[in-house]
Amino acid sequence: MEKILKFPSCFLWGTATSSYQVEGDIKNADWSDFFPARKACNHYFLFEKDFELMKNLNLNAYRFSIEWSRIEKKEGEFDQKEIEHYRQFLKTLKEKNIKTILTLHHFTNPQWLYKYGGWANKKIIFYFSRFAQKMFQEYNELVDFWITINEPLIFAAFGYLTGRWPPRKKNLLLFFQAIKNQTLVHKKIFKEFKKLNPNSKIGLAQNTAYFEPFNKKSFLDNLNAKFNHFCWNQLFIELIKKNLSFIGINYYSSQTVKFPWQDKTIKKEVSDIGWPLFPSGLYWIVKQFQKFNLPILITENGIADEKDILRKKFIKEHLFWLHKAISEGVKVLGYLHWSFMDNLEWDFGFKVKFGLVEIDFKTQERKPRNSAFYFSKIAKENALILNDEDF
Ligand code: GCO
Repeated sequence: MEKILKFPSCFLWGTATSSYQVEGDIKNADWSDFFPARKACNHYFLFEKDFELMKNLNLNAYRFSIEWSRIEKKEGEFDQKEIEHYRQFLKTLKEKNIKTILTLHHFTNPQWLYKYGGWANKKIIFYFSRFAQKMFQEYNELVDFWITINEPLIFAAFGYLTGRWPPRKKNLLLFFQAIKNQTLVHKKIFKEFKKLNPNSKIGLAQNTAYFEPFNKKSFLDNLNAKFNHFCWNQLFIELIKKNLSFIGINYYSSQTVKFPWQDKTIKKEVSDIGWPLFPSGLYWIVKQFQKFNLPILITENGIADEKDILRKKFIKEHLFWLHKAISEGVKVLGYLHWSFMDNLEWDFGFKVKFGLVEIDFKTQERKPRNSAFYFSKIAKENALILNDEDF
């Protein structure tokens, strides 16, 4: 028996990347000395070939980020050559009828920013909104969806609390200041963009996880799961909800929480980096965000799976649960798989493979994995087809 789950008309089927993880040769970012990406996927020079491959895979949307440290190498000096590069990048996507979803901030920053205290200093509101304004003036006609910031809490936690990522601070006050400044600058950008073009669509990519109580009967474990859900999944959106055209949701996995605070992952099927597969968590998360009465865009969902053993099942099951949420009335604009191609998985390096398309980093050859063709068929038919073995 075949079951066909049709998605809404005009549903976006695409992928997501970020500049530092795929472009190559980024020299003036805070990550450039901390964790050099070298050539990465050379997407900076190979984007036309990559977009042709996206088209051939029936994809109709692409989320990417603009590298601030390319545009504004020196504080206040905008590089026209780089601006023209991204204009050509955007025009090529439009020529191929691929919707453009532009992320303004995806973790990396120009090195000069730290002279002014980075994101913990209120001055960031001026510096980042000036960069955003410049991008809007240059590209407003070419961008379908704007994402101001990717995963603000992850950025603040890794950069200002745990010290794992640049600027490697371990300071609770700086952590809260970085969060506060991200809310303020997002609101400022939203208002300014809307003033310039009331039809512009401005959102944010929110990190989410399904927090599962270790002992479902334990009041404290359930309380801890609810507390984590509120703090990590929804608080930031609560703070900016009046300044959003849509909510971007990044969902990957579940986390099992046991009071007090210990994270214990109950053994499930896991990815190459140990993240449990928990597809129904996407349904639960999307339903939890329905209360904001805003369209939702799945801005990231994917799996580290070098052998491409689990990725088809991962896609199938997450889309099954996403379709259930849509059938229950949640307005979902589209689904962007993380990622189009293998790339720099931050401080995990290049050994972690999230790509639908395999990259040979020596030759820069692109080779679609079997899961890429599976996803391509879903995009082409705008439907998920389930067979007997799926039930
Ligand atoms: C993130 C980032 C991506 C990651 C992806 C896989 O949200 O952390 O957007 O850059 O590579 O999530 O970990």
